[in-house]
Amino acid sequence: NPKTLAEKSLPSPSRALLGRHERPHGGLLLRAASSGCGICCRRGPIAGARRVGGGGGGDHRFLLAAATDGVALVAVEVLLHATSTARAEDVCAAVERMLEARSLSYVDGPVPIPNDDPFLLANVKRIQICDTDEWTENHKVLLFWQVRPVVHVFQLSEDGPGEEPGEDDTLSSFNEWALPAKEFDGLWESLLYEVGLKQRLLRYAASALLFTEKGVDPCLVSWNRIVLLHGPPGTGKTSLCKALAQKLSIRFKSRYSMCQLIEVNAHSLFSKWFSESGKLVAKLFQKIQEMVEEESNLVFVLIDEVESLAAARQAAISGSEPSDSIRVVNALLTQMDKLKSWPNVIILTTSNITTAIDIAFVDRADIKAYVGPPTLQARYEILRSCLQELLRVGILTHTQGGNSLWPTP
Ligand SMILES: Nc1ncnc2c1ncn2[C@@H]1O[C@H](COP(=O)(O)OP(=O)(O)O)[C@@H](O)[C@H]1O
Ligand SMILES: [Mg+2]
Repeated sequence: NPKTLAEKSLPSPSRALLGRHERPHGGLLLRAASSGCGICCRRGPIAGARRVGGGGGGDHRFLLAAATDGVALVAVEVLLHATSTARAEDVCAAVERMLEARSLSYVDGPVPIPNDDPFLLANVKRIQICDTDEWTENHKVLLFWQVRPVVHVFQLSEDGPGEEPGEDDTLSSFNEWALPAKEFDGLWESLLYEVGLKQRLLRYAASALLFTEKGVDPCLVSWNRIVLLHGPPGTGKTSLCKALAQKLSIRFKSRYSMCQLIEVNAHSLFSKWFSESGKLVAKLFQKIQEMVEEESNLVFVLIDEVESLAAARQAAISGSEPSDSIRVVNALLTQMDKLKSWPNVIILTTSNITTAIDIAFVDRADIKAYVGPPTLQARYEILRSCLQELLRVGILTHTQGGNSLWPTP
């Protein structure tokens, strides 16, 4: 009997969870309210919002970390085939049944689709358990009775980035993706950092959306929904922003029927046609504005390398650049300020310089996370995942009986 065995050898759920409450990396731990979770159960008036997932009567579902009665709520992401037309609710119920029927332990990674379930086989491409490290310390295993799975069903958009072409060979001013996008699939998992960084970002964003949804007065609790990731170049900041947007679009699928990521190309806004730049900014933000006005849309705006804005402003002040550039920066900042009043937009920014950046909106970032070089353990994992991939495709092979790797002839 796996239950008795497990009970003997593993800590009780409450003890297993105790460590998590004491974790040092801060962030909000969202607890379940008895009357609706507020994160995924929309009770407000927003039209068009759908709830994914069955869950028994009165069972409120949570999108992110939440603790109820010592039970860990673990995210289970279910990717549908591109051709599947099954309803998310039906798939969710089928996956819940499947998980219930198995007495499996919960570790991050894929769950095989049972061969005797034709419905799941026909519709589901992948089932993946995520973020169990939220709930355990020292990679202990969570057992099925310690867990309540929260199933998120999604399909990937295969459209690729939509571009707004710049005129006359100039750089395009932005890229746009419908999320969750095929391009960013697996990106979140591939990024390795010290424990807590990714979870902190995810929890922050969930709290930010919750606060605005619930109508928390911004004069009392100011909350701008701006994230700044800073650190040396090449540490994965841009990728992490995109991966975060992708992750949130999956976790909030039931609340926001459409998610979009807009990547603003700050460099292109300072094109040589300076007088045109003002127009570019206006055009860009008009488009964003149209998106956020639809309240079932969740919009992520990524402004990469914001220090280029600060540099342009500085250069304009010192007179080494035309004053047009200061107008562009100011126009951008004003537009960003306006955007903040919308509850369904999250602004993601990155910067390669770690010293203070002289930009108004960066001061208002709610979360400023330093993204440094990967830890020793993360470096090992990155190397290991690279080698595993080369083994998978057959470029490298194991030699017989040894640990050494050889290129395949
Ligand atoms: N900690 C990490 N774990 C896994 N991959 C990483 C990590 N840091 C950087 N990378 C990889 O390095 C590349 C460069 O990342 P990028 O997002 O462009 O960095 P940045 O924006 O900080 O300059 C990406 O392919 C990313 O996946
Ligand atoms: Mg970058």
